[in-house]
Amino acid sequence: MLEAPQTLTHDIESDPPPPPRSTLRPTSRGKIIGSHPALRDVMGTIDRIAASRCTVLVTGESGTGKELVVAAIHDASPRRDGPLVAVNCGAIPENLLESELFGHVKGAFTGATANRQGFVAAAEGGTLFLDEVGELPLALQVKLLRVLQHRQYTPVGETRSIPCDVRVVAATNRDLVAWVREGRFREDLYYRLNVIHLHLPALRERPDDIPALAEHFFEQARERCGRPELVGLSAGAREALRRYDWPGNIRELENTLERASLLAAGPEVEASDLPTEVKVGSRDVPAAPELPEAGIDLRAAVESYENGLIRQALARTGFNKNRAARLLGINRTTLVEMLKRKRIT
Ligand SMILES: Nc1ncnc2c1ncn2[C@@H]1O[C@H](COP(=O)(O)OP(=O)(O)OP(=O)(O)O)[C@@H](O)[C@H]1O
Ligand SMILES: [Mg+2]
Repeated sequence: MLEAPQTLTHDIESDPPPPPRSTLRPTSRGKIIGSHPALRDVMGTIDRIAASRCTVLVTGESGTGKELVVAAIHDASPRRDGPLVAVNCGAIPENLLESELFGHVKGAFTGATANRQGFVAAAEGGTLFLDEVGELPLALQVKLLRVLQHRQYTPVGETRSIPCDVRVVAATNRDLVAWVREGRFREDLYYRLNVIHLHLPALRERPDDIPALAEHFFEQARERCGRPELVGLSAGAREALRRYDWPGNIRELENTLERASLLAAGPEVEASDLPTEVKVGSRDVPAAPELPEAGIDLRAAVESYENGLIRQALARTGFNKNRAARLLGINRTTLVEMLKRKRIT
């Protein structure tokens, strides 16, 4: 079964109308949480390009918020009252994708019993969001290029070209530059898509944003799970969330808080309510040794304590610096610097 063209739903319509002259709706900006400079740059760029029809390429690991950013681009543009049509290029079988994108005329192929509009036509006057654009087969890449260059397309089985007015925004978590080099993605299309490039940082690159995001998702989850008695996140839980490196990015953080809010005995969400891999970050710190009567050389003691733990972490992970750093709750570069400084080999 084919999916009908889907319009991204986000509750922008029910939000209060934007103040005059503001290009970026406060509602969509309000929903994109984070104050990391890279994210602020992205938001600034969205503001600046709001009025134009330029193509935008949004990149970032899975779960970093690409779809949210695409919604913000649409909402910021004069097309906001037009459709925002999302197409997942990786989810539609290759032999159907052309007719799904461009439509077909009656009789174009077996089973084409009537004319049918494609996603491009459905996005007329609005934004066409090509998600996982890297998965687009080469033959269709040429046809998409035509949409971008000449604002025209041809439905399957049709002989004439049809003009279109859509803004194309594409997203990918692939390394398209490498794919261009390998001949899997057309260079000309890459440059056409990449007119404006917005890159979303991974969550582990912006740990300072974790507390605000966690708070936001906790509030959401409390409501959704019907747990109004939960008062918040415990200090231990917050600490564990901040330390974990979130390979699934913001989506993983969101799911983690939903699950923890469901399971928490209350009144707070505790570190023990978090999944094991997240909890690991909240291990107890062993109590300090007793201070000897004669006093101690504090700096030497701390140094020796630190070295001992670093050596144990390295031994336990077979000298895997990534995992050792993780065990120690520091990042890899910090560990490497420490090893160099301490001459631990
Ligand atoms: N900065 C943010 N503030 C608040 N919520 C966010 C933010 N970024 C992402 N989210 C939320 O995180 C979830 C994942 O985001 P989204 O679906 O946009 O990721 P994606 O980059 O498109 O992932 P994928 O590559 O897997 O499709 C969504 O529920 C989204 O609303
Ligand atoms: Mg997505």
